[in-house]
Amino acid sequence: METCTAIAIASPNIALIKYWGNADDRLRLPASPSISFNLAGLQTRTRVDWEDRLAADEVIINGEEVTGATRDRVVHHLNHIRRLSGHQGFARVDSSNNFPTGAGIASSASAFAALSLAATTALGLHLSERELSALARLGSGSAARSIPGGFVAWYTGATHEDSYAESFAPPDHWDLVDLIAVVSRAHKTTGSTAGHAIAATSPLQSARLATAQERFERCRAAILARDFAALAPVVELDSNVMHSVMMTGNPSLMYWEPATLAVMQQVRRWRDSEGLDVCFTIDAGPNVHCICTAASASVIEPRLRHLPGVLQIYRAVPGGPARLETA
Ligand code: PMV
Repeated sequence: METCTAIAIASPNIALIKYWGNADDRLRLPASPSISFNLAGLQTRTRVDWEDRLAADEVIINGEEVTGATRDRVVHHLNHIRRLSGHQGFARVDSSNNFPTGAGIASSASAFAALSLAATTALGLHLSERELSALARLGSGSAARSIPGGFVAWYTGATHEDSYAESFAPPDHWDLVDLIAVVSRAHKTTGSTAGHAIAATSPLQSARLATAQERFERCRAAILARDFAALAPVVELDSNVMHSVMMTGNPSLMYWEPATLAVMQQVRRWRDSEGLDVCFTIDAGPNVHCICTAASASVIEPRLRHLPGVLQIYRAVPGGPARLETA
């Protein structure tokens, strides 16, 4: 073999039931199950060339060669793929996002999903969706959820093979919209890998985990029934419970800015006083994902744009699975 190439495209995802804390940090086996959908239109495109002439892996992200911890994390993932395939050579990984890194949309999920699909395909390893999801999980837990399309559930699993995500409804099952209110473009101080390790230090994590399965089931049932009145409270509760764990761990993580809370309160007012179908969920950062039905989104989007502290809005709908780009 001289050069083997493949290009894959994957989207980031938004969790409606969150992953925060691992049962096994090394394998990234989550302590609780989660639910998400991929954000169509936002994407990472990754080209992998396994080349005999390379003396080491080369990693290019958004047009620039990277070194240090970012490169190491990619090399570590390529090591899993080398072990899986028996291939000894090195790869050039060239990855770019069509959404700005500073937008507060986690790119590690789409990055490790696209990398897993491109790197294994280039080596002729035709993994099943389940195997790819488990592999992507080793790079970034939530990347497991960016492999399947539509509405996705990621099971905890007790072993590497058992911890994977799968679709339980197609993207067009429900016309939900994620309006992402960007209130800060600053890079987060504590990333999620460190955050997962801190989760167990919170006295609230055991309560969160004891009630996680029930929220997971309520959320899945609300999605299957397209019941927004049932979805909204469980999505907000799950996000608030995760942020309570973040705030009460050691060290304490506080991701919200004043504008985060202002958007959260406005979302509640729109729902409670005007009956609009909207609820919030927030990841490990200050930006607010406003989940709406399509009808409510057209009313809410212009209003969100004018809220003080909101810098920008991204709009995304449920997307399809990670896929290969054909040359
Ligand atoms: O996949 P990670 O390690 O970046 O963790 C993602 C954590 C959250 O975004 C906060 C929640 C989630 O389930 O996506």
